[in-house]
Amino acid sequence: MNYQNSLAFAQEQDANDPLRKWREEFHFPQINGRDAYYFTGNSLGLQPKRTRGWVETEMKKWEEYGVEGHFVPKERPWVKYHESSKESIGRIVGAKPIEVCVMNNLSVNLHLLMVSFYRPTKQRFKIICEAGAFPSDQYMFESQIKFHGLNPEETLIEISPRKGENTLRTEDILASIEEHAEELALVLFGGLQYYTGQVFDMKSITEAGHRAGAFVGFDLAHAVGNVILKLNEWNVDFATWCSYKYLNSGPGNVSGIYVNEKFADDETVPRFAGWWGHNEDERFLMEKGFKPMPGADGWQLSNGNVISTAAHLASLEIFDEVGLDTLRQKSKKLTGFLEFIVNELSGKENIFEIITPADPDQRGCQLSIFFHKNGKQLFDHLVTQGVIGDWREPNVIRIAPVPLYNSFEDVYQFGRLLKEALALYN
Ligand SMILES: Cc1ncc(COP(=O)(O)O)c(C=O)c1O
Repeated sequence: MNYQNSLAFAQEQDANDPLRKWREEFHFPQINGRDAYYFTGNSLGLQPKRTRGWVETEMKKWEEYGVEGHFVPKERPWVKYHESSKESIGRIVGAKPIEVCVMNNLSVNLHLLMVSFYRPTKQRFKIICEAGAFPSDQYMFESQIKFHGLNPEETLIEISPRKGENTLRTEDILASIEEHAEELALVLFGGLQYYTGQVFDMKSITEAGHRAGAFVGFDLAHAVGNVILKLNEWNVDFATWCSYKYLNSGPGNVSGIYVNEKFADDETVPRFAGWWGHNEDERFLMEKGFKPMPGADGWQLSNGNVISTAAHLASLEIFDEVGLDTLRQKSKKLTGFLEFIVNELSGKENIFEIITPADPDQRGCQLSIFFHKNGKQLFDHLVTQGVIGDWREPNVIRIAPVPLYNSFEDVYQFGRLLKEALALYN
């Protein structure tokens, strides 16, 4: 695509954007009397206007039915509430309904899935992950490894980019998996690296992990609703994600898990159990002896968090209406526009550099911009001008134009304000 760094170009793109109307479906924070230039959907997605109605519906049920809300309402009785999300979330992650379940929060689900899929033996005990994984994942690895009485330093293999490079090469990931094949128990990667914005080749990683005889899972916090996922087709063993970033379901809202259908009826897979994962036909008999529900539902512990899942359903309805393929097409153009502007401003002086891969298939909507100097001052100036972005130590600004609600004009304005900041602080 031939980009131009001009308001007229941006406005023309917006006028021809088939997804233009969706912006009106979201609440934008107001700064300086206008919509903020909001680029932090990678952290917390904006609130869809329809969400309130979905939450109020459940509040009304609670008001009218009390505990009977579990069984009496014709539409979405709470006892089956989590089932309403299965088809939609399955479409988003490329999974069958039986393979997905919405429950808990992401770090909790990572631990629960580790219980099932990290079963170290004397021979096979190592885990491969990306270096610099999100801190919660790092703490999860460390505590799980110690829980099994092992030493994290001898157990966890963290793959780093080559010297002088910012992102990982697939060939290096695959070579490491092969090298450790004999001792490997688990490969657990981010689907999209939160800091660099790199999308990993989940298909190849899964194939290599399986060739080595290990289980393979992904933390999809930054990938879900952002890039196309085909978990079932790629034969991934398990995955989990959160719903508050690109899935716009609200702060700290419910996570989801995927467990491959090959484990659907496999009661030998160990797990921590709770009553909501027990065979629903016998759940209220309150008897001893855990019999898991088939598929991902069998990993549930507690009864569903209905009020917050209502907000999740509101957002999933939007994804069903828009379609992820259409979103992805716009996303590539919009992020390409941001890349063009940032590179133009960086110029020959190389004031900053984008550490996210240049290949659109190896990234989602986020670009991570590394500032060689004055990063914090530039960022703080942008904040005063109504930009909501994301500063990461030591010198990176993450900017995520989200195709559902960001416009080409938002991106143009970001570039204009960055140019203004450079005039002040460079
Ligand atoms: C990649 C990744 N993993 C895990 C987490 C932790 O999520 P939670 O606080 O929902 O457990 C986050 C949060 O942003 C994340 O980005």
